[in-house]
Amino acid sequence: MAMLEVKDLQVFYGMIQAIKGISFEVNEGETVALIGANGAGKTTTLHTITGLLSPKKGSVVFEGKEITKVPAHKIVSLGMAHVPEGRRVFAQLSVYQNLKMGAYTRKDKAEIDEMLETVYKRFPRLKERQNQMAGTLSGGEQQMLAMGRALMSKPKIVLLDEPSMGLSPILVNEIFDIIQSLNKAGTTVLLVEQNAKKALSIADRAYVLETGRIVQSGDAQVLLNDESIKKAYLGE
Ligand SMILES: Nc1ncnc2c1ncn2[C@@H]1O[C@H](COP(=O)(O)OP(=O)(O)OP(=O)(O)O)[C@@H](O)[C@H]1O
Ligand SMILES: [Mg+2]
Repeated sequence: MAMLEVKDLQVFYGMIQAIKGISFEVNEGETVALIGANGAGKTTTLHTITGLLSPKKGSVVFEGKEITKVPAHKIVSLGMAHVPEGRRVFAQLSVYQNLKMGAYTRKDKAEIDEMLETVYKRFPRLKERQNQMAGTLSGGEQQMLAMGRALMSKPKIVLLDEPSMGLSPILVNEIFDIIQSLNKAGTTVLLVEQNAKKALSIADRAYVLETGRIVQSGDAQVLLNDESIKKAYLGE
């Protein structure tokens, strides 16, 4: 049984259909990439999985349980965390306060402190800056904070929406290294990216989304060497 199963999903914005019947799955322990150009429907797909949007048709099943109609605020406590596009940290709050917000589903203080230590270990830069206002962090640091905040809920799966956006190549590498080590430590990853090359380089499998449809899928290494993918997405 797949950990996350998306079945024949159709999502509309008013009259416009953004997602035209897509199905895919993420197995426990995998890193799965969802790649595609601007407007392909990547963010819409993540928002539908996390309950921010509701589909007209289709279903989302997490650990065997249908969650299609579960609202966003209840999804986190099931073990699914979403790192939104554009980070969306609370600019007026400190790094520490932002991280604490990520643990809002947890009540046990010892457990929250333990998660905080784990996050600081993974992101030493956040520890150094724990009292800094989040709005004054660099883009890369804000991405780390958004990821750290998601990890505070101790998720089984993390959904990342374009973590590389707007970052320098060095920082992109740093963020992707962190995603990889996070996955090695046992967190399942669904990674949405326009940076197909980087995403495929760390993913086990991938799906290619084009104007609301999945047009190709398979082993990430195979897709990385696929001529049509190279031309369309890898700039080769
Ligand atoms: N709130 C909205 N109202 C109407 N149309 C929307 C809305 N949000 C997204 N869309 C449209 O749905 C389609 C898919 O958008 P989506 O944001 O999911 O794409 P994306 O793959 O995440 O793109 P990007 O890489 O630019 O983030 C686009 O055509 C977009 O214009
Ligand atoms: Mg998007």
